[in-house]
Amino acid sequence: MHLGVNIDHIATLRQARKTTYPDPIEAALLCLEAGADGITAHLREDRRHIQDADMQRLARLAAEGKLHLNMEMAATNEMVAIACRLKPQACCLVPEKREELTTEGGLDIVSHQTRMRSVVRTLANAGCRVSMFIDPVEAQVRAAKAIGAPVVELHTGHYANLNGDARSDELARIREAAQLAASLGLTVHAGHGLTLANTPDIVAIREIEGLNIGHAIVCDAVFKGLRKAVADFKEIMRR
Ligand code: PXP
Repeated sequence: MHLGVNIDHIATLRQARKTTYPDPIEAALLCLEAGADGITAHLREDRRHIQDADMQRLARLAAEGKLHLNMEMAATNEMVAIACRLKPQACCLVPEKREELTTEGGLDIVSHQTRMRSVVRTLANAGCRVSMFIDPVEAQVRAAKAIGAPVVELHTGHYANLNGDARSDELARIREAAQLAASLGLTVHAGHGLTLANTPDIVAIREIEGLNIGHAIVCDAVFKGLRKAVADFKEIMRR
């Protein structure tokens, strides 16, 4: 199973101060050293975290064969032009609303088939393997297949926010959508809101071949690293 680490939150920390650190590309290389199989980054229209220069540096590393880059993007003319220029190995099309804190729901391919088909074709012609971020809904899986996308990423955000029976029901929907997608010949990925606690049930779905995880990894890194970060400051103050 492929783990794509989403490094947007490293850029969010940097942008909070408009400094040069932490550098998301340095973080990306560390993630790869730690065993990540690829790097995911979302260039948003409002550039709230990842900047154009970040994506260019990631794309350069990808072109040199040093990392597998999954560029998350809205299906806008601007982003399609950037992706066609940078040629990441993979592009994940996501819906994007300016006011949202993070990607809130899956793409509605059913209602936008003509546009989505044309974007998938343009990106595929540029050499990008296109993934559609969708809710685990039969009609959306079938629409992804119909427009010629090779990959779907099933939205696990709702599952992550639910408890008890509602969570089990949503897990069943994800499993059924994954099985349907795989039976149609689509590669199945999943992501959003995954944590150490809720990932095992998703990993158990055999059809899912890749996960994209960001927020929980960066959150865990804070607690796994805070002790050393404080100790290092105490050490130089002691000297
Ligand atoms: N997959 C997609 C399509 C996303 O938009 C995001 C969030 O940027 C993720 C995965 C990762 O979600 P999280 O940061 O909650 O792990």
